Order: sequence, then C-alpha cells, then structure tokens
Amino acid sequence: MRFERSHTRKAVALAVVSSLVLLTAACGGGDDGGSGNNGSGGALEGRGPIKFATGKDTSGNLKNQVDAWNTQHPDEKVEVAELPESADQQRNQMISNAQIKSTEFSVLNLDVVWTAEFAANRWITELPQDQFPDLGKLLPTTVDTAKYRDKLYAVPVTSDGGLLYYRKDLLDKAGVEVPKTWPEMVAACAKVKALPEGKAINCYAGQFEKYEGLTVNFSEAVNGAGGVVVGDDGKPNVDTPEALAGLTALVEGFKTGFIPKAAITYQEEPGRRAFQDGNLLFHRNWPYVYALANKTDGSSKIAGKFAVAALPGLSGPGVSTLGGHNYAISEFATNKATAADFIKFMSSEERQKANVEKTSQAPTWASLYDDPALNKQFPYLAPLKASIASAKSRPKVVKYGDVTTAIQEAAYGALKQPAEKDPKQTLTDLQTKLSSLITQ
Ligand code: GLC
Repeated sequence: MRFERSHTRKAVALAVVSSLVLLTAACGGGDDGGSGNNGSGGALEGRGPIKFATGKDTSGNLKNQVDAWNTQHPDEKVEVAELPESADQQRNQMISNAQIKSTEFSVLNLDVVWTAEFAANRWITELPQDQFPDLGKLLPTTVDTAKYRDKLYAVPVTSDGGLLYYRKDLLDKAGVEVPKTWPEMVAACAKVKALPEGKAINCYAGQFEKYEGLTVNFSEAVNGAGGVVVGDDGKPNVDTPEALAGLTALVEGFKTGFIPKAAITYQEEPGRRAFQDGNLLFHRNWPYVYALANKTDGSSKIAGKFAVAALPGLSGPGVSTLGGHNYAISEFATNKATAADFIKFMSSEERQKANVEKTSQAPTWASLYDDPALNKQFPYLAPLKASIASAKSRPKVVKYGDVTTAIQEAAYGALKQPAEKDPKQTLTDLQTKLSSLITQ
C-alpha cells in the first residue's frame, strides 16, 4: 500500500504512534526487544488450516509425520509447501515471501543458521518459552541455535552432524583401519584401489557445489586443521596457517583426483547417490543418508556394506559443522495458535522417535541418543551424538546471507580447477571480506 499525500501519511503516522502507545501500555512496559506483535508473553492466536514451508523432503518421511497431525486435527490441517533441495534457494523463497508480508506460509522450517537474520528482520514471531516446556530436554546446542539475543524464535526439530561414511567391506578386504585423519584416509584409499574390486572407485566426496553445503565443508576443513572461520571473540580469523592447511588439503584433493572432478557439482543428494551407487569409498554427509543407503529395495547397491565414523581432521579428530532445522512461526501468519501446536507436535519425543525409526535424521531429544534399543538398531546414533556434541556453529550473524556467500565464492574459486586463486590469496581476501561484513 502506498500513501501519496503527506496529510494522509501524517494521519497514518499518528494512528500508528497512538496504537503503539496503547500496545506498550497494555504490555506493561513491553520490553520485547522489537519482536513484533507477539512479544515474550504474547498470545499466539488463530486456529485453522496452515501451510508449512520446508525444503525438499529428502528423508521421505515428512508426509507420514504430517499425516499423523492431520488425522488428529481435521479442522487445522497442515499443507506442506515443498521448497527446493538447496538451502540457499529455500532461504531466498522464504525471504521473498516475508518481504511482501505474505500470509501464505505459517510455519517455516528454518536452517539453524538463519535464526538471527529472520528474527532481526522480524520475519518470525518470538515464542513464549513457557509454552514450550520440553525445551530443557533437547540437546542444549540445538536450543541455542533457535535463540537470538537470548529470546526464543523457533523450536529445534532435527539436528545434524557430519559423519564419515565408508565402505566397510572394502576397507576390511584391504586390511586397513578406519582412518582418523585426512592422510590416513588418502593412504587407505590407495590400498583399496590396489584391489581388483577397488580399482574403479573414487576416494572421497563431500559437498562442494557453490551453496550452503560448501560453507559447511569449508568450515570443517578449516576447523579440522585447528583453525577457525570466526573465533570465539566473534571476529573472522581465516588468514592463518591452520586454515591454509585445511583448505590446501581440499584443493590438493581435487588436483590429485582423490576427490573426483564431479564433486565440484555435488550437493547432498548427488553425493549420496554416488555413494549408494558404489562409486565412492569415503563420503562426508549428514545422518539422513544412513537409512537411505541401507535400503534393500534395490535403490542402494551398498546396503549392509558400509558404516560410519567420526569425520577425520588433518592430523587428529575432525570437527563437524553444526547443522539442523528449527520450526518457526511466520510473523505474518494468521493461524498462529495452530502453528504453535503443530510445532509442539512435530518436536515431541514421540514424533521424533517415530522419525528416527524411519529416517535416521538426527533427533533433538537427548533421551533418544541414550535409548539402548534404538542404539542397537541404529549404530550411527553414538558417532552422531559425538559429532553433534563437538560440532562448531557457523557465525550467528544477522547478515548471514552475505557471510555465507563470501565463504562460498572464496572456497569455490579455490577448489574448481583451474582455480581462480591459490589457497593463500583466497584466505587473505576472504579475511578482508569477512572483516567488512562482521563488525560487531
Ligand atoms: C543440512 C543441514 C543444514 C545445512 C545444510 C547445507 O540440511 O542440516 O544446517 O546448512 O545441510 O546444505
């Protein structure tokens, strides 16, 4: 809506000011930190059908979860709006909707790295913590990702930690131990490739396409070599010998063919397919791959032939980047009471257990990692818990979109062959760029 005439604008401004005064008085001072209409004590009102915006469901189980809700809530049905597979494209679509204050999406499945940006821009509603009493039972690191300036804006529904998938059958055959470091992984692959059945296999792939997954993989390379992208003081510190060693290992991987050329185009799904088609010996990916690669319906050629371990570091244990997804309520949603109940339902222990059993996605309930029956059935749970516990968060900044774009462009320019820049120059330039973006 545009107001052309200045006296109309003044009248509107006055009306807005007086309603703000009223609202503040009603909230008893209302220090809601600019959280919009539903400050920490605010009611989440309105019931009826809602739309749930989420990235493409690569787990295959979302429909079952949503159906369970819909059967119990015929008047508050949830319709799934499936967005693209790539995290960046999901973010773009959610932001475009928020910028026009669209009421279309009620619940947003947010990547853990978007909380600050969505909260600061008031695209999501602050959630009253007392309405979500189970938060204390979730892994604390996951709850931290759902907060901005100590206020709650979302509820963690899935976590994510990087795992090293490896072909156990081939490592056993070659008589090599599961590698704990990058050089050990290189040596192990050489031994497997010396076997007749290992001749054609590619050694390793993660996610190296220019998108959010590259920020994840680049950060893991840097952290796994003892460096940081952003330090504990909140300042970028990427022009260091440690970060250089981490990035160089990836660059050398591409140059020597340890990482196949095609991996420069890999997001999670193409990498998963290469692994389960039997074309990769080692593969860095998230836990959801475990269930899919173990399917015995013919979709995977390696069911029962692989296992998972902790990510290798350069000369010691690796460090995963913390991933995961939190459900938030769009500030512009109409049926917010239904949205809040749906979030409680999807984050409940019962639903998360049902989801683990079908999908191997990482739950956020701490108890599920300690359940003996689940551990027996799903051997990935122990390494996953360890991966998440020691995982490193990506920068928690409002301008996250700019920060991740800078990292992606830098890393991609160094990894693609021929490279745009050598690793040292890449990191020097990235440090300058990140310093201009992260100023607090
Ligand atoms: C997974 C993670 C998410 C990450 C994304 C990158 O979905 O859960 O945090 O940003 O992968 O592709």
